[in-house]
Amino acid sequence: MSQVLSVTPSSQAESLISIRALSYRYYASSRYVLNNVNLEIQKGEVVVIAGKSGSGKSTLLRAINGLIPHQHSGDYSGKVIVDGLEVLSAKMSELATKVGYIFQNPENQIFMFSVERDIAFGLENLSFKTPDIREKVDWALNTLGIRDLALRAPHELSDGQKQRVAIAGSIIMGQKILIFDEPTSLLDPYTASNVIRIIKNLHDDLGITILIVEHRLDLVSQIANRIIVLDEGKIVFDGEPRQVMYSSNLSVHGVTEPTIIRTTKLLDPGATGPGKSYPLTTHELAHELRKQVPRIGVFQKGSHEFGTNR
Ligand SMILES: Nc1ncnc2c1ncn2[C@@H]1O[C@H](COP(=O)(O)OP(=O)(O)O)[C@@H](O)[C@H]1O
Ligand SMILES: [Mg+2]
Repeated sequence: MSQVLSVTPSSQAESLISIRALSYRYYASSRYVLNNVNLEIQKGEVVVIAGKSGSGKSTLLRAINGLIPHQHSGDYSGKVIVDGLEVLSAKMSELATKVGYIFQNPENQIFMFSVERDIAFGLENLSFKTPDIREKVDWALNTLGIRDLALRAPHELSDGQKQRVAIAGSIIMGQKILIFDEPTSLLDPYTASNVIRIIKNLHDDLGITILIVEHRLDLVSQIANRIIVLDEGKIVFDGEPRQVMYSSNLSVHGVTEPTIIRTTKLLDPGATGPGKSYPLTTHELAHELRKQVPRIGVFQKGSHEFGTNR
């Protein structure tokens, strides 16, 4: 059972997700895992949540999809409102119509005999009519580019394919919000960037609001409009990717800077602080370097004796 210590009064304009003064401690945990978190997320945002292991990222996601407080016992105070529903008093079945949750390991949400049965599972549970389910399954298969997998057994698929099946099973429910907890951690870099591209398409094509816990900031900073960094259950950064990435003390909070950021900071130790347009991608860095050194030729054949250094 969850315990309400205090409840912040509701006010202000409607955000899609509104978290006010949320603090949470699992009964099994000796300390508070979320400490007075305040966060407003608007419709259509793509928000990346970063932070070292144990900083409370998964706990924060659970507080949004309702697993906290409904399935994890603990001390809970504050207020979380998701698309007009207060999480504390809403039923899990109501929240499931608003928020889809894609696990780190897709094995956890794949159970049936074929991919299409698996994708249909959620709607079958809600007693949708068969022709409606067929239509939605077809749509989800096409959207995820997995039509050719429809009749395959899910457990025979690669991790990347399983992840797509899991996403298809989620979007079929028509939720406005999808949350991904480290969706690429089991994937090779190529498959990981494909999954990130799919997530971006879901946002662009379907207008779905995305929250994604991800360590590969180089991959996600390009699709995010906002990065939040958690440390010991507190939000320590919340801003546009460029601003957050070029903050001077990101690594203090256990967040590894992507190579592009580290390289730029090595080239220009002054490259920190808000309001500047430092490079975020390889293309942007190359463009910047070309501006500085227009006839850059150090990498051309003959201008440098590669392989002779000992
Ligand atoms: N079910 C649980 N019961 C007790 N403590 C938990 C539970 N889940 C997570 N914790 C603790 O809460 C803290 C935050 O965990 P978590 O939200 O999973 O962090 P992250 O996702 O950032 O790695 C950790 O100290 C972890 O041990
Ligand atoms: Mg986690």
